[in-house]
Formats: sequence, C-alpha cells, structure tokens
Amino acid sequence: MTERAGDRVAGKVALVTGAAAGIGRAIALRLAEEGASLVITDIDAAGLAETEQMIKAGNGGANQPPLAIAADVTDEPAVKALFASAFAARGRIDILVNDVGGGTSGHIWEAKVEDWDHIIRLNLRSAFLCTREAAAHMRERRSGRIINLSSGAREGTPWTAYYIGNSAYSAAKAGIHGFTRGVALELAEYGVTVNAVAPGPIETERTGPGFRKIEQLEYGPIRATPLRRIGVPADIANAVLYLASDEANYITGTTLSVAGGR
Ligand SMILES: NC(=O)c1ccc[n+]([C@@H]2O[C@H](COP(=O)([O-])OP(=O)(O)OC[C@H]3O[C@@H](n4cnc5c(N)ncnc54)[C@H](O)[C@@H]3O)[C@@H](O)[C@H]2O)c1
Repeated sequence: MTERAGDRVAGKVALVTGAAAGIGRAIALRLAEEGASLVITDIDAAGLAETEQMIKAGNGGANQPPLAIAADVTDEPAVKALFASAFAARGRIDILVNDVGGGTSGHIWEAKVEDWDHIIRLNLRSAFLCTREAAAHMRERRSGRIINLSSGAREGTPWTAYYIGNSAYSAAKAGIHGFTRGVALELAEYGVTVNAVAPGPIETERTGPGFRKIEQLEYGPIRATPLRRIGVPADIANAVLYLASDEANYITGTTLSVAGGR
C-alpha cells in the first residue's frame, strides 16, 4: 500500500480492536486507505506498533497519524481508559470495529470450563465492553457505525467439528449475531447502525497452518467452501469498509456472511 486508494470513509474516526494481526490489521489498513483516521488497539503492543507503521507508510501524510493504544479489551477499566484516551485525542469515534475474538475449546466431551469462559469473555465480553462505551457517545451524537466480527462458526463449522471441536466459539459467534441485532434495535432511533460480518475460513498468520494441515481431509475447508478457496483478510476488510461507508446507510441489525458460499 503506497497511497490512499479512495475516500469512502474520509474524515471519519475509526477505532479497530485486534488490529495487531490478521483480519483486524487488514481492516485498519483498508479504512485508513479510504481516508479514515485510525485508533488501533490490541493486547499485543509489538504487533500494534507494526500496524501503526504500515498505516503511516500508506498514508502519504493525508490522514491524521494513527493512534495506537495497547489494551486488553476484555477488561472493563482498560476499555474505559482506552475510550477516554481515544476521545481525548480525536474528539469522537464514528466507526467501531470489534474484531477481537477467537479461541479453541476442544471436543465437547473433554472441554474445560476455563476454556469455555475464556472464549465467551474474549469474543462477547470484549464486544459488549467496547460497544457500551461507543454506544453512549454515538447515541448522543446521533450518528455512528458499529461492526462486529461473527463467524461462519455461528452455525457450526464442519472441519472444526470433525477434527478439533469448538462449540464454545460457535456459541460465542452466534452470541455476536444476537448481540448485534439487539443493539441495532436499541440504537436505530439514534441513527447509529450496528452490523456484523461473519467470515468463512480466512487465511491469517494464526489460521493458515491449521487450514493447510486439514486441507486434504474429507471435511477440509476448501472442499466445504463452494467458491473453492480460503478467503484472505482483504475479503473481510472490504465488507467492513462497505458497512462503515455511506453506501450502507439503510443497513442495520444484519450479519453479512463473507464465506465463499459456505
Ligand atoms: N481467521 C478466520 O478464519 C476467521 C473466521 C471467522 C471469524 N474470524 C473472527 O475474526 C476476528 C479476527 O480473526 P483473526 O483470524 O484475524 O484473529 P487473530 O488471532 O489473528 O487476531 C486477533 C487479534 O486480537 C488480539 N487480542 C487477543 N486477545 C485480546 C485481548 N484480550 N484484548 C485485545 N486484543 C486481543 C490478538 O493479539 C490479535 O492481534 C476474530 O473475531 C475471529 O473470531 C476469523
């Protein structure tokens, strides 16, 4: 990325969680390319600094430099401090992307309570805490966009079910769908839209090796995906950009599947 590609979110302030790697990083870069000024956050400070550099390198000096704040977004005081710093520095947040999530609990017959609790906390509590801060502010301003990351796993994932097991993650991502819909209804009268993107299998540093290991098996992700490829982070970033842009003005409470037809 060398230059800004467009202005679909020009002048907007976007806060992206989980921006140190994978899909979150791709979302932050894409929103910046399209003119947003970024507040990026992650528990991984080193990865976050890399994303910050990548945004700066791609900015061409056109946007405000990104503001990087390391934080654990499952922790209530940390999230309050994160939003306080973002508001102090940027004055407002127009777009919130709740990207943080993931986790593996194993097959249900041997799943551990700690893993279940961790996954629910990582995927749902993080979205709740960040959304609560953003919603209070967006409601007052009567404008804003909130975009959550659900997953094809909200309806169960065949390859994960057969070879790994991860019902906690399915439960959490189905929870994101319900959370998105509920919050969208609450905020609709204030002109704030709330949507989710549900990725199919997307190759990131974290997921790539696992996908390759099971690719040849009967329920491998490529075989189970009608478009016959693993997605790339940009596929998800483009969907998030669309939901964040003015083109999506009349869309709220929906979960957009970006999963190659899965
Ligand atoms: N990659 C896929 O195939 C896929 C498919 C469906 C849904 N998703 C969802 O998309 C989102 C991003 O996925 P990814 O593959 O890019 O994940 P990833 O693991 O590569 O990135 C997640 C980021 O979140 C950060 N993080 C973890 N815990 C944190 C915490 N407590 N506070 C702040 N930051 C924290 C990590 O450091 C990491 O940078 C997740 O919600 C995931 O569940 C991914």
